[in-house]
Amino acid sequence: MTRPDPNGQMIAASPAMLRIDEELRQTARSDAKILLTGESGVGKEVVARLVHRYSSRSPKPFVAMNCAGVPDSLLESELFGHMRGSFTGAYRDKPGLLEQAHGGTIFMDEIGEMSLRMQALLLRFLEDGDIYRVGSERRTSTVDVRVVAATNRVLLDQIASGAFREDLYYRLNVIHLLIPPLRDRREDIQPLVNHYLRVFSEKYAVSNPELSPEVVDSLAQYNWPGNVRELKNLAERLIVRSRGGVVRLEDLPPALMRQPLPSARVLPLRQPGGEHAPVVAAARTTPPASDVAAQLFNRIVADRESFWSVVYTPFIARDLTRNDVRGIITAGLQHTRGNYKMLLELFNMEPADYKRFLNFLRKHQCHMPFQQFRTSEPIRPLAGGPSLV
Ligand SMILES: Nc1ncnc2c1ncn2[C@@H]1O[C@H](COP(=O)(O)OP(=O)(O)OP(=O)(O)O)[C@@H](O)[C@H]1O
Ligand SMILES: [Mg+2]
Repeated sequence: MTRPDPNGQMIAASPAMLRIDEELRQTARSDAKILLTGESGVGKEVVARLVHRYSSRSPKPFVAMNCAGVPDSLLESELFGHMRGSFTGAYRDKPGLLEQAHGGTIFMDEIGEMSLRMQALLLRFLEDGDIYRVGSERRTSTVDVRVVAATNRVLLDQIASGAFREDLYYRLNVIHLLIPPLRDRREDIQPLVNHYLRVFSEKYAVSNPELSPEVVDSLAQYNWPGNVRELKNLAERLIVRSRGGVVRLEDLPPALMRQPLPSARVLPLRQPGGEHAPVVAAARTTPPASDVAAQLFNRIVADRESFWSVVYTPFIARDLTRNDVRGIITAGLQHTRGNYKMLLELFNMEPADYKRFLNFLRKHQCHMPFQQFRTSEPIRPLAGGPSLV
C-alpha cells in the first residue's frame, strides 16, 4: 500500500501555498497530528511527505496508506499486522504498516472511508500507540509514529450522519490544513506546468516544448476540476504527443481548447435604472455535487477514462444514482457551454456514440437542457458545493 515518492517536490508560488509551506515547517517541529482536507488532486499527499521531510523524523520511514476500497479484514492486517495462523494464508508473523513506520510518519489517506469498526481500532491505537496484531490476544508492541490523515470528504457531515466518530475526528484534527483547489491559486499554474513539462521531457528524453501564448492563457484561465493531478497528466500527454517545437491550442484537449472561457468577460447588462453596467460573468466550472460524482468526473477529465466505463457501467449495475449521473453531465456541460457534441469528446467517447449517449441520457432522465449552460450567469451545482471540510 506504500507508494514511492513520485517526484517529491512541492511547487508553490501562490501566497496560499507559501503560507502552507511556512505552517508545515512550524508544525514539523512538533508531533501534533495533522488533518489535511481539500479536493481530489490538490496535493494532500505531497504536503504529508513534506511535513515528514521537514521534521526530525525524516531519516525514519514515511509510510502512506489508502483507506478507500480496502475490505476491513485486509485493512486491519495491513495496518496492525498479523500473527501466523490467524487466517488462511497467514504463514508467518507480519508487522503492519504502523510498526513499519516506527519512528517516522504514517499518512492515512481517505480516512473518511474507514468503517466504524476500523475507526474504533484506530482510536484505540491513538490512545497510547499500542499495537494488537490480528490474531494476538495481547499487545504486540508499542510504536511511535506521527499520524497525518487526509480526506476529500466533509467529515463534519459524516459525523452528523453517524458515519464518522466525533472523538476520532477531534483526535486527528489537532492541526487542520485546508489545501485550496488550483483554480483558487492561479499563481501556481505556470510554475507547475513548467515543472512537469521539464520532468516529463526528461523522462521521455524529448526536448522541452515551447507553449504558444494562447496555450499559456488557456492554462491560466482553465478551472482545473482535477487540480494538480489533471495538470500533471496534461503535461505528460503534451510531452508524449509532442512533435517538438511549439504546443498550440489545437494540441490541447477539448476542455482547454474552448478558451478563453468567458471567465472574465465583460457583458453589458441592463441595470434597473436603465444604465448599461459592466458585469463580470464568472464561468465557474464547479465540480459535481457529490463526492462520488466529483471523483468520477475527475477520472474522466483528468485521467481520460471513458464515460462508458466510469459512469454508464456502474449506473446500469445500480452502483450510481441518477443524481450522480446528472451531476457529472452538468459539470461537463459547464465546460462545453452546453454543447453535447463537445461533451462526447470531453468524456472520451467516439463521435459515433452520439446517438447512444443521448438515448441513454433521455431514457434515464439525465438529459439537461443545453440552454441553461449558454447563459452568462454562474452555474450552480445541483446540490452542495466542493467537498471541503
Ligand atoms: N504543489 C505541487 N507540486 C508538485 N506536484 C504536485 C503538487 N501538488 C500535487 N502534485 C502532484 O499532483 C498529483 C496529485 O497530488 P496528491 O496525490 O498529493 O493529491 P491528493 O490531494 O492526495 O489527491 P486525492 O484526494 O485524489 O488522493 C501527484 O502526482 C502530485 O505529485
Ligand atoms: Mg491522496
